Amino acid sequence: MASYSLNWPIAGATAMHSSNPEPFTWDELQQLTQLDLKQSLLQAPLNYESNQGSITVREALSEKLYKQCQPHHIALTSGAQEGIYVLTNSLLEAGDEVVTFTPCFEPLVTVARSLGAKVKTVALDAKDNWSIPWPKFEQAITTKTKLVIINFPHNPTGTSISNSDLQHIINLCDQYGCWLFSDEVFRGLEHEGSPLPAVADCYDKGVSMGVMSKSMALPGVRLGWLVTQNPRLLQNWLSIKAYLSICQSSLDAQLTAQLIPHSEKLLKRNRDIIMTNKASVYGMTNNNPEFHLSESKGAGTVFVELKSFKSAENFCIEVLKKHRIFIIPSAAFVTDFSGFRLTLGQRNALKFYQSIFTANH
Ligand SMILES: Cc1ncc(COP(=O)(O)O)c(C=O)c1O
Repeated sequence: MASYSLNWPIAGATAMHSSNPEPFTWDELQQLTQLDLKQSLLQAPLNYESNQGSITVREALSEKLYKQCQPHHIALTSGAQEGIYVLTNSLLEAGDEVVTFTPCFEPLVTVARSLGAKVKTVALDAKDNWSIPWPKFEQAITTKTKLVIINFPHNPTGTSISNSDLQHIINLCDQYGCWLFSDEVFRGLEHEGSPLPAVADCYDKGVSMGVMSKSMALPGVRLGWLVTQNPRLLQNWLSIKAYLSICQSSLDAQLTAQLIPHSEKLLKRNRDIIMTNKASVYGMTNNNPEFHLSESKGAGTVFVELKSFKSAENFCIEVLKKHRIFIIPSAAFVTDFSGFRLTLGQRNALKFYQSIFTANH
């Protein structure tokens, strides 16, 4: 189904493509939170969790991350990838119309297409700093639209939208009676100001998705969540999930329950790394005729435009061969933009940025 498959890690290569900030180590987590996490893992029941997911985790999530949504509005998933699959299968059938933006995280488009849905993509443009082309979006969404899919802060571009932009999207969905699925896995990594509101808090046909891997930098904890105020939709998720993971690992749930109350500290650590790297990368590429970087406003990646290299794929292969650095070519993100996704979330990254941007390719 996916046009790109990644068999990561590539032996001996440094990952400079990741959308998650550098994963926490146990020591770092324990120092930051003052929790004895290893000890607390020993308390985890080694039984199946419930199909909807640990109530302790759902209470922590609703308390920390949502304003209106309660624990019973949340279903846990095994990562956000399962969340996308469950949500898309719960709402779509062959022939249904979906509207979304490109470039994008590929499964946000391909899972819907695999079900036979007609996906209309509205292209964000680097020339407009990846902002929403409102006339095109307003034309794409019609009474036939069943679902709109958004992801802000955005992978791969690092763009984001304002609260009033989000409200405008919600108003349009409301006007046309369609569902709005908001992939919020980078929520809390906005580079300035407060996080965007969660769509599930503000729209009755809104679904929010979060995960431990992205803004919390814990990809080894395979725990995500879907949120809706619609009880029938949530029941539908649980039926689908019963054929997938069934439930989460109780070890992941135990860790998540402990860490979510400390989410502000985790997010701040990640934003600090991103902002330091952002200053280096933008400084290094300023006035460089080979590369162009739009303004990154959120998340932990930037989508670098290649101005003179003919093939983004060849450029990435060259960087891999010469410098043993792995970056992802733009074609992986449903776009004909020519460039690559670069992480801003890796610590001690300066020498890798130098190799990518200043070496003679
Ligand atoms: C926008 C977006 N949504 C969902 C996911 C899936 O997250 P996970 O791999 O933790 O399930 C990713 C992963 O890169 C992503 O970038």
